Amino acid sequence: MTRIVVVGSINIDLVTLADRFPAPGETLLAQRFLTVAGGKGANQAVAAARLGAEVSLIGAVGDDTFGRQLWQGLREEGVDLSHTKQLAEGDTGSASITVAGGENQILVVPGANAQVTPAQVTRARSLIARADAVLVQMEIPLDTVEATVRLGHQLGVPVILNPAPAQPLPSAWLQLASYVTPNQHELAILLDADPQEDFRALMQRVPCPVVLTRGREGAWYRRHGEPIHQTGYAVDVVDSTGAGDTFNAALAVFLAEGLPQAVRKACAAAALSVGKLGAQAGMPSLVDVETWLTSLTPPDRFS
Ligand code: RIB
Repeated sequence: MTRIVVVGSINIDLVTLADRFPAPGETLLAQRFLTVAGGKGANQAVAAARLGAEVSLIGAVGDDTFGRQLWQGLREEGVDLSHTKQLAEGDTGSASITVAGGENQILVVPGANAQVTPAQVTRARSLIARADAVLVQMEIPLDTVEATVRLGHQLGVPVILNPAPAQPLPSAWLQLASYVTPNQHELAILLDADPQEDFRALMQRVPCPVVLTRGREGAWYRRHGEPIHQTGYAVDVVDSTGAGDTFNAALAVFLAEGLPQAVRKACAAAALSVGKLGAQAGMPSLVDVETWLTSLTPPDRFS
């Protein structure tokens, strides 16, 4: 079984479904409100577990009802939490999310996620040494992200750095990551570059292998220095929240099959994930992904 370690955030998502986003100062009547599990780390852990991996999550929840609810939910998904902390005080991380027309706007309050420490990563050294891949994002302290990338590099375990939410990162760290997986917007921020610059040119400036996600337009990666495009899959979008997390999880789970196949399956898993409201609601199982890819007519191919 593929073993994945995720280092990242656990949030309660407060989701409002509306016809459109309100303008500053405007009050709108919306259609629906729900409270669901989220956080980039937890989402990636759940997505990888549904795809059949053995998953451990290194994170933290607060001493509140949300924390206990999220902890229970992760355990029910089969995620190992032996390296996740239940803090004696403080709030669990939260995200206020507005969904309109399949797009979203998100405000994150880190809460307990701000206390995911480099020491937690160091204590998980033997777990990480046995992993097939490590996933890390940026809703936790940057020194913990750095510790993860450095430890993975030292142990020779592939680390996928998902730079979300984005901020400029030192080139020295990027060199240590096995893959960095920004979307187009995050790529420009990561490099402190002009967002209008062609993304293929920006990809050449990343000092490690890069897999760029482009939503319904699929993904791009480099092979022998050349940019390669994996086309996206046309699906009806209810909520794109968590699609990037599903993509990253699938990339990690299928990495051993080679990058082209892993990117293809990651695009398929992400497409399947957007059909339901809530980050984790639409995340597919391994059977869902394989069945759906087989059912496509004409069969998709690499482009
Ligand atoms: O990537 C989606 C996630 O971002 C949401 O679940 C929300 O919690 C924010 O962390």
